[in-house]
Amino acid sequence: MAETVLLVGGGGREHAIARTLAGSDADLYGCADTRNPGIAGLAAGFETLDTTTPQAVVAYAEAVGATLAVVGPETPLEAGVADALADAGVFPFGPRADAARIETDKAYQRRFMREHDISGCPSFATFDDMGRACEHIDDSDHDLVVKPAGLTGGKGVRVIGEQLTSEEAKEYLRKSEYGRVVLEERLVGEEFTVQAFVANGEVRTTPAVQDHKRAYEGDEGPNTGGMGSYSAAARELPFMTERDYDAAVSIIEETVAALDEYTGVLYGQFMLTAEGPKVVEFNARFGDPEAMNTLPVLETDFLDVLTAARDGDLPTLAFAERATVCKYAVPAGYPENPDAGAKVDIDPESAGDALLFYASVDERDDGIYTTTSRAFAVVGIAETITEAEEIADEALTAADTAGLRVRHDIGKPDLVEARIAHMDDLRGREG
Ligand code: AMP
Ligand code: GLY
Repeated sequence: MAETVLLVGGGGREHAIARTLAGSDADLYGCADTRNPGIAGLAAGFETLDTTTPQAVVAYAEAVGATLAVVGPETPLEAGVADALADAGVFPFGPRADAARIETDKAYQRRFMREHDISGCPSFATFDDMGRACEHIDDSDHDLVVKPAGLTGGKGVRVIGEQLTSEEAKEYLRKSEYGRVVLEERLVGEEFTVQAFVANGEVRTTPAVQDHKRAYEGDEGPNTGGMGSYSAAARELPFMTERDYDAAVSIIEETVAALDEYTGVLYGQFMLTAEGPKVVEFNARFGDPEAMNTLPVLETDFLDVLTAARDGDLPTLAFAERATVCKYAVPAGYPENPDAGAKVDIDPESAGDALLFYASVDERDDGIYTTTSRAFAVVGIAETITEAEEIADEALTAADTAGLRVRHDIGKPDLVEARIAHMDDLRGREG
């Protein structure tokens, strides 16, 4: 029987999922809060609806006769969309709201790691009282990281000693309306992501990716949802050893073993420190942008992975040994003061050899418009990171003229070399 797959979500990550499913034997439908022209163009049907209203998603799933659903973003997971789909008899690839707490509640996430003695957990404390949290900052003899417990779209965390002083952090806490925060040890090193397909207690990991959260070149400016990312033609990244990658995988495996029931992607964000990988956070879904690096090099049929998650054993995954570089074009002023409602004149043909993924844009009768978030991404795929970067950057010349902003430095040799030198330095090795 052919499968009918409903894809929930309309970002660049979901366009990449749609592209991957379009190559398999599935009838694809999409729904999202705004109309993503990339997904709509690949799907047999596309509906704009509030993806955090489980009944709305279930109604559309039933209307199209979905047998499977892939839930892309975290907000529908938190709202219980996977629970509602499962209750309606549609298999969701994405965890139930309870299991998604590993992402949606950072206080729970840290306590879960401590309770199950999972490796790589930084020291931390949680606070409901912001006054107490401020005292804890005063009493600490090392730099801390301030994390709102709930979802903030990647924009709520503040690193003392890097982004702000202790005094500014206390001011941030006092002014915030966060009900609960985590204060944890500041980890120093290089960040990387490992995403794993998880079902029936099994874990299949994908190659490591490095995202770039800061808004501006040279890792300056505020945190964003992610401005771009790269992966190498290997499981590990140039600043890592195979051992580092394996250590990250075993942390993911320990976590899955401790989770009761988990289906979907478990995304581990790690800091590679001088002592090895430590957990920055877990997410309950593919990364965005990281999915755009990973899915285009996945050689195993993605639909087979989804049906196996539902029906039995996950297949071993095969990946093309190719490097990838992904770069986002974002509205001017993003993330603090994004220029929403600007017309985006992008011709997919102009991407050349790169893949183009639409993200938070809205397709209307007279064209495609920006929203308050990232507009579109391009991905270069080649034998080396350097070549992949050139392909991606070449595809973005039109973005500069369209008034969008890009971090051209992502994936360039200088930046990758700096990451390697940073790790060598931390590990006390000669460069
Ligand atoms: P998160 O939303 O938890 O991914 O945090 C956003 C960003 O804050 C991460 O990508 C890191 O750059 C930084 N961050 C979070 N936790 C820590 C930590 N314990 N030490 C250093 N940086 C951190
Ligand atoms: N790239 C970061 C995230 O998806 O949360």
